[in-house]
Amino acid sequence: MKKALFVDCCLRPGSNTRKLAEAFIDNLSKEYKVKHLKLEDENLKPLVGEWFYSRQEILDTTSERTHPRFDYAHEFAEADLIVIAAPFWDLSFPALLKIYIENVSIDGVTFTTGEEGLKGLCKANNLVYLTTRGGFYNDSPMESALPQLRNLSEFFGIQNFHSIGVDGMNVEGYDAEASLNEAIKEASELAQTF
Ligand SMILES: Cc1cc2nc3c(=O)[nH]c(=O)nc-3n(C[C@H](O)[C@H](O)[C@H](O)COP(=O)(O)O)c2cc1C
Repeated sequence: MKKALFVDCCLRPGSNTRKLAEAFIDNLSKEYKVKHLKLEDENLKPLVGEWFYSRQEILDTTSERTHPRFDYAHEFAEADLIVIAAPFWDLSFPALLKIYIENVSIDGVTFTTGEEGLKGLCKANNLVYLTTRGGFYNDSPMESALPQLRNLSEFFGIQNFHSIGVDGMNVEGYDAEASLNEAIKEASELAQTF
């Protein structure tokens, strides 16, 4: 059985991004056991003050990465497929996803540093990023979420990055529903390739 980790950063009831993600997940092969990690329900804290210093101390004083604070990182590193769903907020993704990424980025678990530089340690070969946006940002240099997640995929050693971004969800007069339905079809087809 393969493991898919569904990192769900959809924060609105009736989220369009989650509809896209569910279409993807529903069409994944039954070979995958899917872990639905709903970030909203996790007790994620940003790395500030004592929460930051205590982690530094654990990292500096132990070489084994067995502390429960590294559980998110192990789960991420061991997944065969990563699916991230997050709406487009303030030209990027919600802060909650960044906080999750802080928890996952652990030297010795998801990446390592050596004489040859950085090396990703994650098992997954594919990271799928799904998003919906209020305006039109496809191919815009102002779209700051997609390049960041693509870079992180490489950082974690996940070779293939896939993304589906649906634009125009809040543009008056634009057929957002048709656009979303088309993307849902695309997401379903993409899932069937894994
Ligand atoms: C806090 C917040 C910030 C947003 N920032 C942007 C933005 O910078 N650009 C944009 O095009 N849409 C922005 N939007 C609109 C969302 O991207 C759009 O409604 C998206 O489809 C929401 O996804 P959801 O249905 O999964 O929640 C923002 C929405 C919220 C609530």
